[in-house]
Amino acid sequence: MLKVMTLAKNLKKAILADPERFYSTDTGAWVSGLPKAGEIQVKTGREPLWINLGYWRDVERVDENNFERVGELFKSAQAQMAHLLAKTARLGQADVVLDCGFGYADQDILWAEEYRPKRIHGLNVTPTQVRIGRERIRLTGLERVVQLDVGSATEIPFGAGEFDVVFALESAMHFKTRRAFLREAFRVLRPGGRLVMADMSQKTDREAGSGLRRRLRHRYFRGLIAFPEANVWTTQRFATELTSVGFQNARLESIAADVYGPVNAAFTALRGVTAASRQPGSVTPERIRADVRKVREQDPEQYQHLALFNCDDYVVAYAEKP
Ligand SMILES: C[S@@+](CC[C@H](N)C(=O)[O-])C[C@H]1O[C@@H](n2cnc3c(N)ncnc32)[C@H](O)[C@@H]1O
Repeated sequence: MLKVMTLAKNLKKAILADPERFYSTDTGAWVSGLPKAGEIQVKTGREPLWINLGYWRDVERVDENNFERVGELFKSAQAQMAHLLAKTARLGQADVVLDCGFGYADQDILWAEEYRPKRIHGLNVTPTQVRIGRERIRLTGLERVVQLDVGSATEIPFGAGEFDVVFALESAMHFKTRRAFLREAFRVLRPGGRLVMADMSQKTDREAGSGLRRRLRHRYFRGLIAFPEANVWTTQRFATELTSVGFQNARLESIAADVYGPVNAAFTALRGVTAASRQPGSVTPERIRADVRKVREQDPEQYQHLALFNCDDYVVAYAEKP
């Protein structure tokens, strides 16, 4: 009976595919201790609360010998993702920025302090994150630079041509729809303005060859994380959509090799270390070490983002408004 009820509840979640539900009740920050949104306590404003998969190219990756330090290692890869986007956008002091889907605002703190843009406006559909993000901006003394609001990237509450840079850091796969966001981003950018995104896609069309069972399975898991079917694009389609909205000089760089493999090891270690700290003795270090080793030897087809959501590419997209 309990199983049937859980299944019914999950099916409802998958069908409703609501990012606000996903980020306020189902998941919290993907950091040490895996705190749910309701458990997050902000003291200094500088506690890491990132929610992205990390860019693991020039940082230490999680393995069976360092898994105890997963919190610190994950955090630095997640910050690297924000640096990669800032560098791709050539973010600088003259820029007025719109950040769509900022999580708990870690990236806005990092960009404001290290790249010193003129202003950052953040939009996010999850009110808890906006509340926590605002508190952190207050505590870090960045209120004159960063302003955070509840709102959707698909209905941007700003006029045409107001921004130099629009960012979507691992958020646009949730937007209803990503295409509607591209239109809005184009509208609010000034001529010469830059759009930079980090997002999931497919290297080739993986849907076409999938049987019905696999398609339903992917649809169900995408629904649980609020990833609408309309956003399942190949990387080639991503480029075409950017151009069809009016963007030029579109560039999509695949960084999948520096994301999916290493993050699987990080999540495995994080879950183990979190379980062990919440209930001492429930998971031994040997068990965590063995799990991390196993995941590191996995065939890429078994990676979580491939097996559950059918995404084997992860791109940094750049485009300019003419
Ligand atoms: C995977 S998280 C990434 C958060 C953040 N960029 C980071 O790296 O920590 C996706 C974010 O997109 C936000 N989001 C989802 N749909 C949105 C929408 N339509 N408009 C604005 N934000 C949205 C979620 O609330 C969440 O903060």
